[in-house]
Amino acid sequence: MKPPDRSHNGNFRRRPAGPSAAAPEPLAPGLAARIAAAQILADTLTMGRPLDERFSGENVHPRLTGLDARDRALTRSIVTVSLRRLGTIRKALAGFLDKGLPKKSGSLEWTLVVAAAQLLFLDTPDHAAVDLAVRAARAEPAAAPFAALVNGVLRNVARARQEILDGSDALDDDTPAWLAARWRANYGASVARSIASANRDEPTLDLSVKSDAEGWARRLGGIVLPTGSVRLESHVPICELEGYKEGEWWVQDAGAALPARLLKASPGMRVVDLCAAPGGKGAEIAVTGARLTAVDRSAERLKRLAVNFERLRLNAEIAVADALSFDAPPFDAVLLDAPCTATGTIRRHPDVGWTKRLGDLAPLSAQQTQLLDKAVALTKPGGLLVYCTCSLEPEEGELQIAALLRRNPDVRRLPIDPGEIGGLTECLSPAGDLRTLPCHLRGPTPRLSGLDGFFAARLRRRS
Ligand SMILES: C[S@@+](CC[C@H](N)C(=O)[O-])C[C@H]1O[C@@H](n2cnc3c(N)ncnc32)[C@H](O)[C@@H]1O
Repeated sequence: MKPPDRSHNGNFRRRPAGPSAAAPEPLAPGLAARIAAAQILADTLTMGRPLDERFSGENVHPRLTGLDARDRALTRSIVTVSLRRLGTIRKALAGFLDKGLPKKSGSLEWTLVVAAAQLLFLDTPDHAAVDLAVRAARAEPAAAPFAALVNGVLRNVARARQEILDGSDALDDDTPAWLAARWRANYGASVARSIASANRDEPTLDLSVKSDAEGWARRLGGIVLPTGSVRLESHVPICELEGYKEGEWWVQDAGAALPARLLKASPGMRVVDLCAAPGGKGAEIAVTGARLTAVDRSAERLKRLAVNFERLRLNAEIAVADALSFDAPPFDAVLLDAPCTATGTIRRHPDVGWTKRLGDLAPLSAQQTQLLDKAVALTKPGGLLVYCTCSLEPEEGELQIAALLRRNPDVRRLPIDPGEIGGLTECLSPAGDLRTLPCHLRGPTPRLSGLDGFFAARLRRRS
């Protein structure tokens, strides 16, 4: 279990997670969603469990059972914005909690955070956000004595809303301190602040289409990006969108769609995707008619790949295996989308920055080095290898490739041409590697802008 990172801003003392007592019956409308949001937020930050897993699949959070679709969606948007703007919210609350959080107050901290998130960033009426937080506090024996404090603090937050928002800085407040320091050092203060600002904006839905991007953009009310992905502003559940059942497209961030395309897969080519699940990048390969082998050590995640490929009517040979011990004749091309800190995906997964920590970097980068060596061994002479990670940290990108090129004279870099990525020169490093940032690809609105942060290098094994 990972403790929450409190090294940055806000001065709360650590509390045990979640309301422990059942809320009184009957619950006021909307109260169950607020209690669920507080508990899911607490669980995410104190246990480091990925947020996505709490809203779907086998590990769905128990507080969501019994909530209708609307309340589930509300819960999710409260938790998401709470994480996206956690530093601003904590700073605001701390300003009105002169003595800090009272001791032994149960889940009071989380009740306050989710209520402040509604007051500052959602269109919940002030009286409803405050009233429901007071009720949530009263419903829990440890927090009940502090119901009046909840009322007072939240009314102050509502009154000071504009001042709080004006005084909030994306990098200093809403970025975990360890990442803010690293991004400043690695990208400079200005780019670091742009990355942090982009992470504050809720991203849209990007689709990779099998064909006819213009047609799908027209039918779904989206735009075609220079890279060929279709970007939607839609809030409709994806399975209700035209073309979903027919398997004409799959959801994938436009930045994530780029690395696999650098392999230039073609019909009949033998390609292995060594960390393949749930399959977004593999689909980019399979759709070309290449013969794809999809390897992943997680059987569970490969099941999702199989379901996705079935819907898309795409073929792959699936192998549940640790890539390090996977054995096969060398391939024409290899994709290694290695496990990483995922700090490039904070726009879509605002929990990542708060649940990952600096100490995760070294073991992950050691694993990436091993996987890279294995990937080279699985590439036939003259074949191509693309290495990528969804991380902004050089240890998981640029430095991995520099070290590989130093230790293995058998591989050389094949620089990427801007034309291969829709002319996005801003996304290429001087060496010719891909380096997308959340602040790249500015569109007409913040919502229509941005890319997940990816690093990708293309290498050729000498003949
Ligand atoms: C970044 S995700 C891959 C995402 C995937 N390429 C896609 O586009 O949908 C990393 C994957 O690596 C897998 N993984 C981690 N270590 C592995 C190993 N040693 N061998 C095989 N798979 C591994 C994880 O199970 C996870 O599914």
